[in-house]
Amino acid sequence: MDTIRVTQTSKSNIDSVDFNNLGFGNVFSDHMLVCDYQNGQWGAPEVVPFQPISLMPSAKIFHYGQSIFEGMKAYKDADLNTWLFRPGENFKRLNTSAKRLAIPELPKSIFFEGLKTLLKVDNAWIPTAEGSSLYIRPIIFATGEGFHASPADAYKFIIATAPSGPYFSGEVKVRIEEKYSRSANGGVGYAKAGGNYAGQFYPTQLAIDAGYNQVIWTDDNTHEFIEEAGAMNIFIRINDTLITGPTSDRILDGVTRKSIIDIARAEGLSVEVRKFTVAEVLEASTNGHLKEMFGAGTAAVISPISVFGYKDQNYNLPEVENSYASRLKSKIIGIQTNTAEDPFGWRFKID
Ligand code: COI
Repeated sequence: MDTIRVTQTSKSNIDSVDFNNLGFGNVFSDHMLVCDYQNGQWGAPEVVPFQPISLMPSAKIFHYGQSIFEGMKAYKDADLNTWLFRPGENFKRLNTSAKRLAIPELPKSIFFEGLKTLLKVDNAWIPTAEGSSLYIRPIIFATGEGFHASPADAYKFIIATAPSGPYFSGEVKVRIEEKYSRSANGGVGYAKAGGNYAGQFYPTQLAIDAGYNQVIWTDDNTHEFIEEAGAMNIFIRINDTLITGPTSDRILDGVTRKSIIDIARAEGLSVEVRKFTVAEVLEASTNGHLKEMFGAGTAAVISPISVFGYKDQNYNLPEVENSYASRLKSKIIGIQTNTAEDPFGWRFKID
């Protein structure tokens, strides 16, 4: 691929950012990568200053929601080397999502060369403080116009980045959902489609109004099987066994999820990838066998759940010494940030 054109910002915002007090995804780096799809092909990617984009009200993104995204992080180690974590998995999933939403697939060279160039240009935006990273948000959406309900003929790929701290602060209380669903068989639950998240906001607000932070999603058909936790995959620990549901049409193939499964197995933990029910979780909780419950995703990494609610009753998770959540979290973060061995070859250096 030709060298990517870079237009530097004339006014950096970096001095306005307190890198020791970062929230999640609410300040944005100076530049972004943009690449347009027109006339049946992806054009040349460019790095430009982070700026508004101009779209006609007839752009199909506004009408039919043809929009997908990814979530990744860049880390700096003590020697100020820059690392990504399994970016090939995000690239693959971006195109899995693209296919499902009838969006043209993106060439690998645009994704990787574009990302590398952007990370070099905005290298100073990658935080070094413990627990922080540069959150990377690739998106593709329909810019082509028309009210006809059919795929657009033009799209935009953007990578924007945000220096970020923790996704959640404090304990996470969740409510097991009995009415609403985030996905269905044959649907788009496995894709990172923007609409999957929009559809969660209303039921999540109902849960927040009832005193929880997040919803535990159950299957759309019976609401008996536990599937995801908010915008994350979910794990439970019954006695010494870690359990997570299998990926499906309805469950996102999370990079953190599958990395945790591999790390836990390499640590000699017993891991079961199988369906599990609300009834099983309630029974284990009542018998004292339910030791842990946590969400796993790129943004929050591992987010321990302290309380779950079901049918107006709350169930507390016990305080566990040396929890799987904290052990697995420090293992995965060690690999991601180059402070631990990477026996899996997951780290990806940006030279
Ligand atoms: C991520 O964990 O990166 C996600 O995609 C969840 C997001 C909605 C913050």
